[in-house]
Amino acid sequence: MKKVVAIFGSPRVNGNSDILLNQAIKGAEASGAKVEKIVIRDLQIAPCNACDGCFEKGTCVIYDDVQQIYSHLVDADGIIVASPVYFMSVSAQLKAFIDRCQPFWAKKYILHLPVRKGMGSANGFLIATAARNAGDDLFAGVIKTIKAFFHVLDIKYTGEILCCGVEEKGMVNMKRDLLQRAFDAGKQLLTW
Ligand SMILES: Cc1cc2nc3c(=O)[nH]c(=O)nc-3n(C[C@H](O)[C@H](O)[C@H](O)COP(=O)(O)O)c2cc1C
Repeated sequence: MKKVVAIFGSPRVNGNSDILLNQAIKGAEASGAKVEKIVIRDLQIAPCNACDGCFEKGTCVIYDDVQQIYSHLVDADGIIVASPVYFMSVSAQLKAFIDRCQPFWAKKYILHLPVRKGMGSANGFLIATAARNAGDDLFAGVIKTIKAFFHVLDIKYTGEILCCGVEEKGMVNMKRDLLQRAFDAGKQLLTW
């Protein structure tokens, strides 16, 4: 059975990115995939301290909840990341998690070891929400960060749903088209 990992990056449960992510999860499940949802805010995640410990073996020397997630990342067929825009970037919780993926960078560029289990790359998709209404660069920081994260993990960036103009929890429910698009994106994720 194909496996999709859904990384939920907002501290706000049942918020806008959560609602869109849950739609994408339903879509992925409808396509027959098994979905593992990782709620970053519930995990104890220390920030990377740049000790370069991972340069030796490609493993992190900090033993907290990230250790249990590494294995999910490398054997997933699809990854969906959902985050709100916080000061033009991803949430601090999600950024701390992404920075802790430095061992994969070390594996790839220092140790020249494969990052993923098995052959080929996974397919990745981004969901991001923001309060502001427009502005070309509103999601630029989030997109760049997630693309860099995917690149290091050999995850193909297959697309995104960017939802602006939603501030309060649940406002995204008024955007029926985006809810449907999120479901469809989850359903199609593994077919790219
Ligand atoms: C700390 C913080 C920083 C934020 N920064 C921005 C921002 O830079 N631009 C923006 O449009 N919205 C910003 N927002 C609003 C959220 O992106 C918006 O409410 C979003 O819908 C929240 O998604 P969620 O419900 O999934 O948490 C910020 C909210 C918080 C709490």
